[in-house]
Amino acid sequence: MADINATEAVIRPETPADAAGIETLLGHAFGPGRFVKVSERVREFARYRPDLSFCALAGAEVVGVVRLWDIHVGPDRALFLGPLAVHSGRRLDGLGGRLVERAGAAADALGEGPILLVGDPPYFRRFGYDAGATAGVRLPGPVDPRRVLARGAAGPMAGPVRA
Ligand SMILES: CC(C)(COP(=O)(O)OP(=O)(O)OC[C@H]1O[C@@H](n2cnc3c(N)ncnc32)[C@H](O)[C@@H]1OP(=O)(O)O)[C@@H](O)C(=O)NCCC(=O)NCCS
Repeated sequence: MADINATEAVIRPETPADAAGIETLLGHAFGPGRFVKVSERVREFARYRPDLSFCALAGAEVVGVVRLWDIHVGPDRALFLGPLAVHSGRRLDGLGGRLVERAGAAADALGEGPILLVGDPPYFRRFGYDAGATAGVRLPGPVDPRRVLARGAAGPMAGPVRA
């Protein structure tokens, strides 16, 4: 059997057939605690965008995922990024970054955005995400405002995050 750690990961749009592999990956990456995250509350009402969601595959195995969702922030359309996860055996090799950038480029190509997320500023800063426009964003649960990041905002984002 091929060693997945020696196989170059290929990024392509997510398909329904990837669902089981993605669930396994997310279970390992986040554990059961992922269901209590505020991002999960957003994903309960947001509309999933399969055209802006990507998988990384090493052979037949899903080793990375990033998803985007349609939301509004107050009256304005936006996208919500997450979950982002890379298989523990494939980290620190740029794959997470390739996934974030692929999703961002796909949104840019459609003229969509800004992209909002809840995540670690030191990681996402390198991809152009920061908290500069997000002070007025109200998420459906408690969150450290320093972790509410966006990319591509034309001005301050303000109001509740909603469907
Ligand atoms: C976060 C995650 C997707 C990064 O994937 P990856 O493929 O290792 O990322 P990359 O190889 O593109 O980037 C690695 C770099 O990011 C840094 N990094 C990784 N996670 C970080 C974090 N939480 N905060 C700050 N820096 C981080 C690494 O130290 C490394 O830095 P370097 O380039 O200076 O060596 C992966 O660690 C993961 O799946 N974690 C568990 C799930 C998770 O936390 N997802 C993000 C939720 S917001």
